[in-house]
Amino acid sequence: MRTILIINGPNLSMLGKRDPKHYGKGTLSDLENACINKGIELGVKVQCFQSESESAIIRKLHTSMGLIDGIVMNAGAYTHYSVAIRDAIELIKIPVVEVHLSDIHNREDFRNTSVIEAVCVEQICGMGVDGYLLAMEKLVSTYMTALAEEEKDGSDPLTEERKAINEIDKELLVLFCRRMKHAERIARIKASAGVPTYSPDRESEILRGVEESVEKDYADYAKQWMQETMRLSKERQHEINKGM
Ligand code: DQA
Repeated sequence: MRTILIINGPNLSMLGKRDPKHYGKGTLSDLENACINKGIELGVKVQCFQSESESAIIRKLHTSMGLIDGIVMNAGAYTHYSVAIRDAIELIKIPVVEVHLSDIHNREDFRNTSVIEAVCVEQICGMGVDGYLLAMEKLVSTYMTALAEEEKDGSDPLTEERKAINEIDKELLVLFCRRMKHAERIARIKASAGVPTYSPDRESEILRGVEESVEKDYADYAKQWMQETMRLSKERQHEINKGM
């Protein structure tokens, strides 16, 4: 199933408390729920993301590659000056519809310019929450149709496999960082107890565990992978010991 991502930028978390003349009375949850319901109607999955931070929005755009099929983006005030967000939209090659609750062309002069407009497939403003729903309709009917065709005749299994790998890599990276943190703690515990950090017995025990846990065909690869992981932990532990 295709996925549309709804991105809301700074201060949109405060909907309901912002000037109702421009932004209406509803909250961000009301807006997101309306998008989720629209997704059900259109037969697409909907993911919602809000952040006050430019870097978090850019990271979200980067990590959407290969996972998201269309984006509805209200970049809030970043619309008017964030060249960094503009560049991120340009590089991800996912259709992005720019939306604004208010009519940015009929407000203060500084809101008239959008630096992201040129890299978005459309701009919709002044329609309130309906603008988001229209943006979703446009993504599905116009900008995601090429993808839909590929899905229908099943001609793009490669993309599906890549999506799956991207998801797995994300999980692996989280686990990798957790493992490194434990290795760091071990280095500190051992250093304060005055015992050497490195223990060859422990390494063999881990490698035996690998053999027991993985499918036979992958055992050798998995062992090499674990050895490399342990080498990186040791490198980090060594750095910690040097600094203590
Ligand atoms: C907005 C318009 C921007 O100028 C403003 O900074 C916002 C919201 C809108 O939805 O109308 O925060 O993007």
